[in-house]
Amino acid sequence: MRTQVGIIGAGPAGLLLSHLLHLRGISSVVLEKRSRDHVERRVRAGVLEHGTVDTLVQAGVGARLLREGLPHHGIELRYGAESHRIAFDELLPGRSITVYGQQEVVKDLIAARLAAGGDIRFEVTDVALHALEDRPYLTFGGERLDCDVIAGCDGFHGVSRPAVPDGVLTTYERAYPFAWLGILARVPPSAEELIYARTDRGFALHSMRSPEVSRFYLQVPPDTSADDWPDERIWAELKARLETVPGFTLATGEIFDKGVTPMRGFVTEPMQYGRLYLAGDAAHIVPPTGAKGLNLAVADVRVLAEALDAFFATGSADLLDGYSRACLKRVWRAQHFSWWMTTLLHTFDTDDDYGRRLQVSHLDYITASEAAATTLAENYVGLP
Ligand code: APR
Ligand code: PHB
Repeated sequence: MRTQVGIIGAGPAGLLLSHLLHLRGISSVVLEKRSRDHVERRVRAGVLEHGTVDTLVQAGVGARLLREGLPHHGIELRYGAESHRIAFDELLPGRSITVYGQQEVVKDLIAARLAAGGDIRFEVTDVALHALEDRPYLTFGGERLDCDVIAGCDGFHGVSRPAVPDGVLTTYERAYPFAWLGILARVPPSAEELIYARTDRGFALHSMRSPEVSRFYLQVPPDTSADDWPDERIWAELKARLETVPGFTLATGEIFDKGVTPMRGFVTEPMQYGRLYLAGDAAHIVPPTGAKGLNLAVADVRVLAEALDAFFATGSADLLDGYSRACLKRVWRAQHFSWWMTTLLHTFDTDDDYGRRLQVSHLDYITASEAAATTLAENYVGLP
Protein backbone atom coordinates (compact mmCIF):
# COMPACT_ATOMS: atom_id res chain seq x y z
CA MET A 1 0.00 0.00 0.00
CA ARG A 2 1.23 3.50 -0.74
CA THR A 3 0.17 7.05 0.13
CA GLN A 4 1.78 10.46 0.07
CA VAL A 5 1.42 11.21 3.79
CA GLY A 6 1.12 8.49 6.42
CA ILE A 7 -0.56 10.00 9.48
CA ILE A 8 -0.38 8.34 12.88
CA GLY A 9 -3.23 9.32 15.21
CA ALA A 10 -6.85 10.39 14.67
CA GLY A 11 -6.94 13.20 17.20
CA PRO A 12 -7.58 16.78 16.07
CA ALA A 13 -4.05 17.09 14.65
CA GLY A 14 -4.07 13.97 12.48
CA LEU A 15 -7.65 14.37 11.29
CA LEU A 16 -7.37 18.05 10.41
CA LEU A 17 -4.06 17.45 8.62
CA SER A 18 -5.65 14.67 6.56
CA HIS A 19 -8.53 16.98 5.66
CA LEU A 20 -6.32 19.99 4.77
CA LEU A 21 -4.18 17.73 2.57
CA HIS A 22 -7.28 16.36 0.86
CA LEU A 23 -8.34 19.93 0.03
CA ARG A 24 -4.95 20.35 -1.67
CA GLY A 25 -5.23 17.09 -3.60
CA ILE A 26 -2.67 15.25 -1.45
CA SER A 27 -3.43 11.68 -0.37
CA SER A 28 -3.07 10.40 3.19
CA VAL A 29 -3.95 7.40 5.34
CA VAL A 30 -4.69 7.88 9.05
CA LEU A 31 -3.75 5.05 11.44
CA GLU A 32 -5.48 5.17 14.84
CA LYS A 33 -5.08 2.59 17.57
CA ARG A 34 -8.39 3.29 19.33
CA SER A 35 -11.94 2.78 18.03
CA ARG A 36 -13.93 5.52 16.31
CA ASP A 37 -16.34 5.47 19.22
CA HIS A 38 -13.51 5.93 21.70
CA VAL A 39 -11.96 8.95 19.98
CA GLU A 40 -15.37 10.56 19.47
CA ARG A 41 -16.24 10.22 23.15
CA ARG A 42 -12.91 11.25 24.66
CA VAL A 43 -13.66 14.36 26.71
CA ARG A 44 -11.00 17.03 26.50
CA ALA A 45 -10.89 20.83 26.60
CA GLY A 46 -13.23 23.04 24.63
CA VAL A 47 -11.94 26.55 23.98
CA LEU A 48 -11.28 27.42 20.33
CA GLU A 49 -9.21 30.49 19.56
CA HIS A 50 -10.38 32.93 16.95
CA GLY A 51 -7.83 31.61 14.43
CA THR A 52 -8.78 27.99 15.12
CA VAL A 53 -12.42 28.73 14.32
CA ASP A 54 -11.34 30.54 11.12
CA THR A 55 -9.23 27.54 10.06
CA LEU A 56 -12.06 25.06 10.62
CA VAL A 57 -14.63 27.26 8.90
CA GLN A 58 -12.38 27.97 5.90
CA ALA A 59 -11.69 24.23 5.61
CA GLY A 60 -15.43 23.60 5.34
CA VAL A 61 -15.79 21.74 8.65
CA GLY A 62 -17.24 24.63 10.67
CA ALA A 63 -20.98 24.40 9.98
CA ARG A 64 -21.98 22.69 13.24
CA LEU A 65 -19.36 24.65 15.17
CA LEU A 66 -20.93 27.91 13.96
CA ARG A 67 -24.41 26.60 14.81
CA GLU A 68 -23.77 25.00 18.21
CA GLY A 69 -20.53 26.58 19.44
CA LEU A 70 -20.87 29.25 22.11
CA PRO A 71 -19.10 32.52 21.23
CA HIS A 72 -17.54 34.15 24.31
CA HIS A 73 -16.45 37.77 24.51
CA GLY A 74 -14.81 37.69 27.93
CA ILE A 75 -13.81 35.61 30.95
CA GLU A 76 -14.06 36.22 34.68
CA LEU A 77 -11.16 36.18 37.12
CA ARG A 78 -12.31 35.46 40.67
CA TYR A 79 -10.12 35.76 43.76
CA GLY A 80 -10.64 36.75 47.37
CA ALA A 81 -14.18 38.14 47.42
CA GLU A 82 -13.77 39.80 44.02
CA SER A 83 -14.72 38.91 40.49
CA HIS A 84 -13.53 40.84 37.45
CA ARG A 85 -14.38 40.51 33.80
CA ILE A 86 -11.64 40.54 31.18
CA ALA A 87 -13.63 41.99 28.30
CA PHE A 88 -12.16 40.70 25.04
CA ASP A 89 -14.75 42.68 23.09
CA GLU A 90 -13.55 45.99 24.57
CA LEU A 91 -9.83 45.20 24.69
CA LEU A 92 -9.59 43.50 21.29
CA PRO A 93 -12.60 44.51 19.22
CA GLY A 94 -13.71 41.83 16.80
CA ARG A 95 -11.79 38.97 18.46
CA SER A 96 -13.49 36.27 20.51
CA ILE A 97 -13.24 32.61 21.46
CA THR A 98 -15.74 29.83 20.92
CA VAL A 99 -16.59 27.14 23.46
CA TYR A 100 -17.07 23.86 21.57
CA GLY A 101 -15.90 20.48 22.89
CA GLN A 102 -12.82 18.96 21.33
CA GLN A 103 -14.65 15.69 20.78
CA GLU A 104 -17.21 17.59 18.69
CA VAL A 105 -14.37 18.88 16.50
CA VAL A 106 -13.14 15.29 16.19
CA LYS A 107 -16.63 14.05 15.23
CA ASP A 108 -16.97 16.77 12.57
CA LEU A 109 -13.54 15.98 11.10
CA ILE A 110 -14.16 12.22 10.99
CA ALA A 111 -17.52 12.79 9.28
CA ALA A 112 -15.91 15.11 6.70
CA ARG A 113 -13.07 12.68 5.97
CA LEU A 114 -15.37 9.70 5.57
CA ALA A 115 -17.81 11.67 3.40
CA ALA A 116 -14.91 12.51 1.07
CA GLY A 117 -13.82 8.86 0.90
CA GLY A 118 -10.91 9.46 3.29
CA ASP A 119 -8.95 6.47 4.56
CA ILE A 120 -8.97 6.29 8.38
CA ARG A 121 -8.02 2.92 9.90
CA PHE A 122 -9.28 2.58 13.45
CA GLU A 123 -8.10 -0.02 15.97
CA VAL A 124 -4.83 -0.70 14.16
CA THR A 125 -2.18 -2.53 16.17
CA ASP A 126 1.58 -2.24 16.46
CA VAL A 127 2.19 0.86 14.37
CA ALA A 128 5.93 1.19 13.76
CA LEU A 129 7.98 3.74 11.79
CA HIS A 130 10.85 2.77 9.48
CA ALA A 131 13.53 4.35 7.27
CA LEU A 132 12.70 7.90 8.37
CA GLU A 133 15.83 9.39 6.80
CA ASP A 134 15.00 8.43 3.25
CA ARG A 135 12.07 6.29 2.06
CA PRO A 136 9.83 6.12 5.07
CA TYR A 137 7.23 3.45 5.62
CA LEU A 138 4.87 2.36 8.35
CA THR A 139 3.98 -1.13 9.43
CA PHE A 140 0.86 -2.05 11.38
CA GLY A 141 -1.07 -5.27 12.02
CA GLY A 142 0.92 -7.19 9.39
CA GLU A 143 0.52 -4.50 6.68
CA ARG A 144 3.00 -2.06 5.15
CA LEU A 145 2.27 1.53 4.12
CA ASP A 146 4.91 3.29 2.00
CA CYS A 147 4.85 7.09 2.28
CA ASP A 148 6.70 10.13 1.05
CA VAL A 149 6.34 11.71 4.46
CA ILE A 150 5.10 10.61 7.89
CA ALA A 151 3.17 12.89 10.24
CA GLY A 152 3.39 11.88 13.89
CA CYS A 153 0.09 13.11 15.32
CA ASP A 154 -0.17 10.39 17.96
CA GLY A 155 -0.20 12.49 21.10
CA PHE A 156 2.15 12.59 24.05
CA HIS A 157 2.25 8.79 24.57
CA GLY A 158 2.53 7.86 20.90
CA VAL A 159 5.20 5.92 19.00
CA SER A 160 6.42 8.66 16.64
CA ARG A 161 8.60 10.73 18.97
CA PRO A 162 10.33 7.65 20.45
CA ALA A 163 11.10 6.46 16.88
CA VAL A 164 13.60 9.32 16.48
CA PRO A 165 17.17 8.13 17.21
CA ASP A 166 18.59 9.05 20.60
CA GLY A 167 20.37 12.35 20.81
CA VAL A 168 18.49 14.08 17.99
CA LEU A 169 15.69 15.70 19.98
CA THR A 170 16.06 17.98 22.95
CA THR A 171 13.13 17.98 25.35
CA TYR A 172 12.14 20.67 27.80
CA GLU A 173 9.76 19.73 30.57
CA ARG A 174 8.03 21.01 33.67
CA ALA A 175 5.78 18.83 35.83
CA TYR A 176 3.33 20.57 38.15
CA PRO A 177 2.66 19.22 41.65
CA PHE A 178 -1.11 18.94 41.07
CA ALA A 179 -3.68 17.65 38.59
CA TRP A 180 -7.12 18.74 37.39
CA LEU A 181 -10.26 16.79 38.14
CA GLY A 182 -12.68 17.56 35.30
CA ILE A 183 -16.41 16.83 35.26
CA LEU A 184 -19.36 17.25 32.93
CA ALA A 185 -22.73 17.83 34.60
CA ARG A 186 -26.27 18.01 33.29
CA VAL A 187 -26.99 21.48 34.64
CA PRO A 188 -27.21 24.87 32.95
CA PRO A 189 -24.07 26.99 33.44
CA SER A 190 -24.25 29.14 36.57
CA ALA A 191 -22.79 32.14 34.72
CA GLU A 192 -22.64 33.17 31.11
CA GLU A 193 -18.85 33.14 30.93
CA LEU A 194 -15.90 31.04 32.06
CA ILE A 195 -14.79 31.73 35.63
CA TYR A 196 -11.16 31.17 36.60
CA ALA A 197 -11.06 31.14 40.41
CA ARG A 198 -7.99 31.40 42.63
CA THR A 199 -8.64 30.43 46.25
CA ASP A 200 -6.52 29.31 49.17
CA ARG A 201 -8.18 25.87 48.78
CA GLY A 202 -6.88 25.64 45.20
CA PHE A 203 -7.98 26.58 41.70
CA ALA A 204 -11.44 26.01 40.22
CA LEU A 205 -12.81 26.63 36.72
CA HIS A 206 -16.43 27.06 35.67
CA SER A 207 -16.92 26.27 32.00
CA MET A 208 -19.67 24.83 29.85
CA ARG A 209 -20.53 22.84 26.76
CA SER A 210 -24.09 23.92 25.98
CA PRO A 211 -27.01 25.72 27.62
CA GLU A 212 -27.77 22.41 29.36
CA VAL A 213 -24.30 21.08 30.17
CA SER A 214 -21.67 22.58 32.49
CA ARG A 215 -17.98 21.69 32.64
CA PHE A 216 -15.94 22.18 35.82
CA TYR A 217 -12.37 21.61 36.91
CA LEU A 218 -10.80 21.43 40.38
CA GLN A 219 -7.12 21.56 41.24
CA VAL A 220 -6.44 18.26 43.04
CA PRO A 221 -3.36 16.42 44.36
CA PRO A 222 -1.37 14.73 41.55
CA ASP A 223 -1.96 11.19 42.84
CA THR A 224 -5.74 11.61 43.08
CA SER A 225 -8.02 9.03 41.51
CA ALA A 226 -11.47 10.07 40.27
CA ASP A 227 -12.80 7.41 42.69
CA ASP A 228 -11.63 9.57 45.60
CA TRP A 229 -14.16 12.14 44.47
CA PRO A 230 -17.79 11.14 45.02
CA ASP A 231 -20.24 13.63 43.52
CA GLU A 232 -21.11 15.29 46.85
CA ARG A 233 -17.45 15.97 47.55
CA ILE A 234 -16.99 17.54 44.11
CA TRP A 235 -19.99 19.85 44.49
CA ALA A 236 -18.97 20.85 48.03
CA GLU A 237 -15.48 21.74 46.84
CA LEU A 238 -16.72 23.60 43.75
CA LYS A 239 -19.08 25.61 45.94
CA ALA A 240 -16.31 26.39 48.41
CA ARG A 241 -14.06 27.66 45.62
CA LEU A 242 -16.63 29.40 43.40
CA GLU A 243 -19.30 30.76 45.76
CA THR A 244 -16.95 33.43 47.03
CA VAL A 245 -18.72 36.53 45.80
CA PRO A 246 -22.09 37.89 46.94
CA GLY A 247 -25.04 36.75 44.86
CA PHE A 248 -23.33 33.83 43.11
CA THR A 249 -24.88 30.41 43.62
CA LEU A 250 -23.60 27.32 41.89
CA ALA A 251 -26.33 25.21 40.31
CA THR A 252 -25.71 21.46 40.70
CA GLY A 253 -26.91 18.46 38.71
CA GLU A 254 -26.09 14.94 37.59
CA ILE A 255 -22.40 14.37 36.95
CA PHE A 256 -21.99 12.13 33.88
CA ASP A 257 -18.27 12.28 33.21
CA LYS A 258 -15.28 12.46 35.55
CA GLY A 259 -11.56 12.38 34.75
CA VAL A 260 -8.18 13.41 36.12
CA THR A 261 -5.64 15.23 33.90
CA PRO A 262 -2.00 15.54 34.93
CA MET A 263 -0.45 18.97 34.44
CA ARG A 264 2.77 19.38 32.57
CA GLY A 265 4.58 21.57 30.12
CA PHE A 266 6.68 19.75 27.51
CA VAL A 267 8.37 20.74 24.25
CA THR A 268 10.54 18.74 21.89
CA GLU A 269 12.97 20.50 19.60
CA PRO A 270 13.10 20.19 16.70
CA MET A 271 9.65 18.87 15.80
CA GLN A 272 11.01 16.87 12.86
CA TYR A 273 13.55 14.26 11.87
CA GLY A 274 14.25 13.12 8.31
CA ARG A 275 10.84 12.64 6.69
CA LEU A 276 8.98 12.53 10.02
CA TYR A 277 7.11 15.64 11.19
CA LEU A 278 5.59 15.77 14.69
CA ALA A 279 2.44 17.81 15.32
CA GLY A 280 0.20 18.54 18.30
CA ASP A 281 0.63 16.71 21.60
CA ALA A 282 3.27 14.42 20.04
CA ALA A 283 5.57 17.46 20.03
CA HIS A 284 4.35 19.57 22.95
CA ILE A 285 2.03 19.60 25.95
CA VAL A 286 0.74 22.59 27.90
CA PRO A 287 -1.05 22.69 31.23
CA PRO A 288 -4.72 23.31 30.35
CA THR A 289 -5.07 26.58 32.27
CA GLY A 290 -4.50 28.65 29.14
CA ALA A 291 -6.71 26.38 26.97
CA LYS A 292 -4.01 26.18 24.31
CA GLY A 293 -3.52 22.42 23.59
CA LEU A 294 -6.01 21.96 20.77
CA ASN A 295 -5.23 25.39 19.32
CA LEU A 296 -1.53 24.59 19.07
CA ALA A 297 -2.32 21.30 17.32
CA VAL A 298 -4.42 23.19 14.75
CA ALA A 299 -1.69 25.81 14.25
CA ASP A 300 0.95 23.08 13.66
CA VAL A 301 -1.01 21.26 11.00
CA ARG A 302 -1.90 24.52 9.27
CA VAL A 303 1.84 25.14 8.82
CA LEU A 304 2.55 21.51 7.91
CA ALA A 305 -0.21 21.31 5.29
CA GLU A 306 1.13 24.41 3.57
CA ALA A 307 4.70 23.09 3.62
CA LEU A 308 3.58 19.72 2.23
CA ASP A 309 1.59 21.48 -0.46
CA ALA A 310 4.74 23.31 -1.62
CA PHE A 311 6.75 20.09 -1.40
CA PHE A 312 4.41 18.03 -3.55
CA ALA A 313 3.66 20.86 -5.99
CA THR A 314 7.23 22.02 -6.63
CA GLY A 315 9.55 19.44 -5.08
CA SER A 316 11.00 22.17 -2.86
CA ALA A 317 11.54 21.11 0.75
CA ASP A 318 12.31 24.66 1.95
CA LEU A 319 9.07 25.11 3.86
CA LEU A 320 9.24 21.58 5.25
CA ASP A 321 12.79 22.18 6.42
CA GLY A 322 11.57 25.27 8.26
CA TYR A 323 8.46 23.56 9.72
CA SER A 324 9.78 23.24 13.25
CA ARG A 325 11.15 26.76 13.35
CA ALA A 326 7.85 28.13 12.04
CA CYS A 327 5.89 26.35 14.80
CA LEU A 328 8.13 26.73 17.83
CA LYS A 329 7.67 30.47 18.35
CA ARG A 330 3.95 29.99 18.85
CA VAL A 331 4.58 26.85 20.89
CA TRP A 332 6.85 28.68 23.34
CA ARG A 333 4.49 31.67 23.57
CA ALA A 334 1.73 29.23 24.54
CA GLN A 335 4.06 27.48 26.99
CA HIS A 336 4.79 30.76 28.69
CA PHE A 337 1.16 31.87 28.79
CA SER A 338 0.02 28.49 30.14
CA TRP A 339 2.77 28.46 32.78
CA TRP A 340 1.89 32.04 33.73
CA MET A 341 -1.86 31.37 34.07
CA THR A 342 -1.11 28.18 36.02
CA THR A 343 1.28 29.92 38.39
CA LEU A 344 -1.08 32.84 38.88
CA LEU A 345 -4.14 30.79 39.80
CA HIS A 346 -3.06 27.58 41.57
CA THR A 347 -1.91 26.96 45.10
CA PHE A 348 1.51 25.35 45.52
CA ASP A 349 2.62 23.32 48.55
CA THR A 350 5.63 25.57 48.76
CA ASP A 351 3.50 28.74 48.93
CA ASP A 352 4.12 31.04 51.81
CA ASP A 353 2.20 34.22 52.59
CA TYR A 354 4.65 36.13 50.45
CA GLY A 355 3.85 33.94 47.43
CA ARG A 356 0.10 34.30 48.00
CA ARG A 357 0.41 38.08 48.21
CA LEU A 358 2.31 38.10 44.93
CA GLN A 359 -0.47 36.17 43.19
CA VAL A 360 -3.15 38.50 44.50
CA SER A 361 -1.09 41.56 43.67
CA HIS A 362 -0.74 40.38 40.09
CA LEU A 363 -4.45 39.65 39.82
CA ASP A 364 -5.14 43.16 41.15
CA TYR A 365 -2.82 44.55 38.49
CA ILE A 366 -4.53 42.65 35.66
CA THR A 367 -7.92 43.86 36.74
CA ALA A 368 -6.76 47.48 37.23
CA SER A 369 -4.52 47.96 34.22
CA GLU A 370 -5.87 47.91 30.69
CA ALA A 371 -2.40 47.07 29.38
CA ALA A 372 -2.10 44.02 31.65
CA ALA A 373 -5.64 42.87 30.86
CA THR A 374 -4.95 43.27 27.14
CA THR A 375 -1.87 41.06 27.44
CA LEU A 376 -3.99 38.33 28.99
CA ALA A 377 -6.79 38.78 26.44
CA GLU A 378 -4.44 38.78 23.46
CA ASN A 379 -2.80 35.53 24.53
CA TYR A 380 -6.09 33.90 25.50
CA VAL A 381 -7.88 34.75 22.26
CA GLY A 382 -4.76 33.71 20.37
CA LEU A 383 -2.16 35.54 18.36
CA PRO A 384 -2.88 35.72 14.62
N1 APR B 1 -0.78 4.14 17.01
C1 APR B 1 -1.87 4.76 16.49
N2 APR B 1 -2.51 5.78 17.08
C2 APR B 1 -2.02 6.21 18.26
C3 APR B 1 -0.87 5.64 18.86
C4 APR B 1 -0.26 4.54 18.18
N3 APR B 1 0.82 3.94 18.71
N4 APR B 1 -0.63 6.27 20.03
C5 APR B 1 -1.57 7.22 20.16
N5 APR B 1 -2.42 7.18 19.10
C6 APR B 1 -3.60 8.01 18.88
C7 APR B 1 -4.42 8.27 20.13
O1 APR B 1 -5.32 7.19 20.40
C8 APR B 1 -5.15 9.54 19.77
O2 APR B 1 -6.38 9.29 19.14
O3 APR B 1 -3.17 9.32 18.50
C9 APR B 1 -4.21 10.24 18.79
C10 APR B 1 -3.61 11.52 19.37
O4 APR B 1 -4.63 12.45 19.58
P1 APR B 1 -4.60 13.56 20.75
O5 APR B 1 -4.03 12.97 21.98
O6 APR B 1 -5.96 14.15 20.79
O7 APR B 1 -3.52 14.62 20.23
P2 APR B 1 -3.59 15.77 19.13
O8 APR B 1 -4.33 15.33 17.91
O9 APR B 1 -2.19 16.25 19.01
O10 APR B 1 -4.50 16.89 19.76
C11 APR B 1 -4.06 17.76 20.72
O11 APR B 1 -5.50 16.92 22.36
O12 APR B 1 -4.65 16.15 24.38
C12 APR B 1 -5.34 17.16 23.76
O13 APR B 1 -4.77 19.08 25.00
C13 APR B 1 -4.56 18.38 23.83
O14 APR B 1 -6.28 19.55 23.01
C14 APR B 1 -5.04 19.05 22.65
C15 APR B 1 -5.20 18.04 21.62
C1 PHB C 1 -12.98 23.52 29.04
O1 PHB C 1 -14.10 24.03 28.88
O2 PHB C 1 -12.84 22.28 28.95
C2 PHB C 1 -11.82 24.36 29.38
C3 PHB C 1 -11.97 25.74 29.38
C4 PHB C 1 -10.89 26.55 29.71
C5 PHB C 1 -9.68 25.97 30.03
C6 PHB C 1 -9.51 24.60 30.02
C7 PHB C 1 -10.59 23.79 29.69
O3 PHB C 1 -8.63 26.77 30.36
